[in-house]
Amino acid sequence: MAFTRLSAIVVLALGASQIANAAITKRVTCASGHVTANAACCALFPMVDILQDQLFDGAECGEEAHSALRISFHDAIGFSLHGGKGGGADGSILAFNSTELQFHANGGIDDIVASQFPVFQQLDLSAGDFIHLAAAVGVANCPGAPRLKFMFGRPPPKAAAPDLTVPEPTDSVTKILERFADAGFSPQEAVALLSSHTIAAADVVDVTIPGTPFDSTAGTFDTQVFLEVLLKGTAFPGNGSQAGEVLSPLAGEMRLQSDFAISQDPRTACFWQAMVNDQNRMVTEFKDAMAKLQVLGQNTRKLVDCSDVVPVPQPFAGPIKFPASFSNKDLQLACKNVRFPNIATVAGPAPTVAPVPGS
Ligand code: HEM
Repeated sequence: MAFTRLSAIVVLALGASQIANAAITKRVTCASGHVTANAACCALFPMVDILQDQLFDGAECGEEAHSALRISFHDAIGFSLHGGKGGGADGSILAFNSTELQFHANGGIDDIVASQFPVFQQLDLSAGDFIHLAAAVGVANCPGAPRLKFMFGRPPPKAAAPDLTVPEPTDSVTKILERFADAGFSPQEAVALLSSHTIAAADVVDVTIPGTPFDSTAGTFDTQVFLEVLLKGTAFPGNGSQAGEVLSPLAGEMRLQSDFAISQDPRTACFWQAMVNDQNRMVTEFKDAMAKLQVLGQNTRKLVDCSDVVPVPQPFAGPIKFPASFSNKDLQLACKNVRFPNIATVAGPAPTVAPVPGS
C-alpha cells in the first residue's frame, strides 16, 4: 500500500518534470521558417526585416542604430518607482512626440522620431513595442554588442511623460544617481547603462560639429569609451567649451561632463574603471540593465518573451587599445581598488576621430 502510494507520487513527479521540460524546450516554427519560443513572436520576424531595411540602412551600426538606443532610454526613464511620472517604457516619446520633444534633454531626438515614425505607421506594433524592438535590433547591428532581450505586448501609452526625467550632461553625479535610483537603478546599473555611449555621438551639444563621437570606435560595442573617458583632456573638438562638455583627449572626440564626472566620483569610479578591457563584464551588465529598462512601468506578466527575434550580433574582434600616442601616463584614475589592465597602444601619430556619417 505504502509502496503503491510512493510509486504514484514518483510517477506524478516525473510527469510534472517532463511537462515542465517540454514547456521549456517547445519551439514553434513560423510560416516564414523562423523558429521561436512562442507563436505570438512569429509576426515580429518580418518587422525586424523592415526595420533593418528601412531604418538601419541594411543592418548597419550607424546613426539610426545609435539613436534608436538613445530614444529607448529617454522613453523608459520617464518613470518613477514612487509614481507621479510617466508610463516608463511605453513609447510615449514617439506617440506624444509633440510634447516630449519640447523637453531640453530630448535635444536631437527629433531626427530619430522623424526616421522612425513612417516605419512605425507601417507596422502593427504599439509605440512601446516599436521603440524597444528597434533599440534591440539597432544594438544587434553593432559588433561586440550583447543580444538584448525583447519583451512583446506593451499596451499603447496613455500620456506623455513629464519633463525633467531625463538626465542632462550638466547635472551633478548626485542628481544623476538620484534620478536613476528613483527609476529603480543602482549606481552600478547606471554605469552599465552608460556602456551605450560606446556607440554614440553628439549632434546638439556643439551644433557646429554634428556626429562627434564619444569614443574612437563608435561603430563597435567595445569598452573603448570607458578607457577614453579616463584619458586627460586637452582640447574641445569644436566651437570651444559648450554646456555639458569637458576637455577631450582626442581631436574630433567629445567628452560629456557627466561621463567624466561619473568616471571620477567615489560612488561610481570603480564600476567605471572595472569595465575597461572587460568586454564580458560590460555586455553582461548592460544586457541585464537594458532588460530592466525596457519593461519599466510595464506589467511583465502580460508580456511575451520574444528575444529570439533579435538578430545575433557579430562578436568583438578585440582587444581594445590606447589610441596612437596614448598610454598609462595619460590616465586619470580615481579608483585605487581596481587594478588597471595592460593595454597596448595603436602605432602611429595621435588620431583625429571621424564624425559618425549621417548626423
Ligand atoms: C547620465 C546619463 C546620461 C546623460 C547625461 C546622457 C547624455 C547624452 C548626450 C548629451 C548625448 C548627445 C546628444 C546630442 O548632442 O545629440 C547622448 C547621446 C547618446 N546617449 Fe546618452 N546620456 C545618458 C545616459 C544614456 C543611457 C542610459 C543610454 C542608453 C541606455 C544612452 C544612450 C545614448 C546614445 C546611444 C547616444 C548617441 C545617439 C546618437 O549618436 O545618435 N545615454 N547622451
